[in-house]
Amino acid sequence: MKHRVDVMIPEDEVQARIAEMGREINERYRDSEELVMVGLLRGSCVFLSDLCRHITSTDVCLDFMTASSYGSSMTSSREVRIIKDLDDEIKGKDVLIVEDIIDTGHTLSKVREIMRLREPKSLAICTLLDKPSRREVDVPVDWVGFAIPDEFVVGVGIDYAQRYRNLRYIAKVVPLE
Ligand code: PRP
Ligand code: MN
Ligand code: MG
Repeated sequence: MKHRVDVMIPEDEVQARIAEMGREINERYRDSEELVMVGLLRGSCVFLSDLCRHITSTDVCLDFMTASSYGSSMTSSREVRIIKDLDDEIKGKDVLIVEDIIDTGHTLSKVREIMRLREPKSLAICTLLDKPSRREVDVPVDWVGFAIPDEFVVGVGIDYAQRYRNLRYIAKVVPLE
């Protein structure tokens, strides 16, 4: 598809919001022994790397999980499969799931359920973007960077056919012709 990308949230706004979320997360986990930040690959990698560098109130561990849903198309499928599991156990730990975007909610709802069964000490969710109008299943989200309308967006880890994850800003994909 021929398209162009238009800036929707500029880099300075993205970074200011991530810093603000970092301050709130520091406050929340001030008395924690350690915080396991779990990134859902691949989309969360850029946001996670920015966010984790603001966390100073507790020790941080990073772990990763891959759940599939979209493939390369612009529509979501309801089936969520775990392709890569966490490397370490989370039982008794403070766990923060970090996601780039919540759309239908199927990915996070499934991942949250899998993690909950492993009995972490606490389980919270943080997402950079949220499209509330697209939600099909309810997921409790503790931190949302930006709630956005139902536009196809890319950047800061979010792809279109695996491209644009490296953009420093959030952009809208605009079809041409
Ligand atoms: C995207 C996005 C979220 C998920 C949101 O991931 O990064 O993980 O879809 O959709 P949902 O709320 O409707 O489940 P994708 O499957 O495209 O993989 P990626 O992270 O590797 O891009
Ligand atoms: Mn993803
Ligand atoms: Mg994707």
